[in-house]
Amino acid sequence: MSTKIKSSWKKLGYIDEPVPEGIDLKAEIRRLCQEKNAIILAHYYTDGALQDIADFVGDSLALAQQAAKTKADIIVMCGVHFMAETNKILCPDKLVLIPDLNASCSLAESCPAEEFEAFVKAHPGHKVISYVNTSASTKALTDVVVTSGNAQQIVESFPKEQPLIFGPDKNLGSYINAITGRQMVLWDGACHVHERFSVEKLIELKREHPQAKVLVHPECRGAIVKLADVVGSTAKLLKFAQQSDDQTFLVVTESGILHQMQKSCPSKTFIPVPPDDATCACNECSFMKLMSLQKVYNTLCYEWPSVNVPADIAKRAVKSIDRMLEISEKLGL
Ligand code: 13P
Ligand code: SF4
Repeated sequence: MSTKIKSSWKKLGYIDEPVPEGIDLKAEIRRLCQEKNAIILAHYYTDGALQDIADFVGDSLALAQQAAKTKADIIVMCGVHFMAETNKILCPDKLVLIPDLNASCSLAESCPAEEFEAFVKAHPGHKVISYVNTSASTKALTDVVVTSGNAQQIVESFPKEQPLIFGPDKNLGSYINAITGRQMVLWDGACHVHERFSVEKLIELKREHPQAKVLVHPECRGAIVKLADVVGSTAKLLKFAQQSDDQTFLVVTESGILHQMQKSCPSKTFIPVPPDDATCACNECSFMKLMSLQKVYNTLCYEWPSVNVPADIAKRAVKSIDRMLEISEKLGL
């Protein structure tokens, strides 16, 4: 197939090409992966069909760990841009593809590197902890990266008297401050999906399903976190649902996670909690939902769009990601 990338695709940020008629799309994607020694990594928030064809499905921490150890030549990241950047930083010699370059993240965007740099400079003597949902340039200003799967343990690995900056998610930062007793200085950022969950609707659903356990991602507002039975990363929430004897769960995170919950626990009931302005029952990340089988097929055919990180930024950013992976490994996370 021609590798010429049309200028209209460059403008769009993805390959707008119909899939050849009559092909078995999923089988073709798997065939291309084999032929090109490529792996597909998918986040739990992507469409269920993508999770089903991926080589690996996980939370942000597991996806970074998987990228760090893969022997594949090509990584196709079904997730958002910062996840692909993290893969590229960890694997500079591999080709990292993202099926749609528009897959941004409102949380990462809430923390532009130049403004974060000024914030860091305004707090001398502070170590800088950044959530993985940040651009490579913001990671380059960071001492250690965290995910929601290891934030508590990494914050606790610093001496109590060490002043800390935490960015960009103020909700996750407040939650970690509350459970660790720290007083980290917080950047004022948030995720547009997790900020939208409705407290009133959650209370109503709890009344309707008094036996249900409430599973909450720590990017949610404090008023939601207060109503949780379990707070954690997508992987932690999934694991709890799988191991618990409870039968009904109210799920307060992006609704893509319900695919794995339902798939691995077919007899249990998972109810997505809606956002404030709900016209439908669930709360979706429009960026994650830009990923599709068609775009994955095209990205593998054309080996585009790829994600690259300037060498000077990657050199500084890799230290903060490696530090996270080292601490996580030591703690068995
Ligand atoms: P997890 O690391 O828990 O999967 O979260 C990623 C994310 O983007 C949450 O909005
Ligand atoms: Fe970013 Fe929020 Fe989407 Fe997660 S759910 S990728 S934090 S915008």
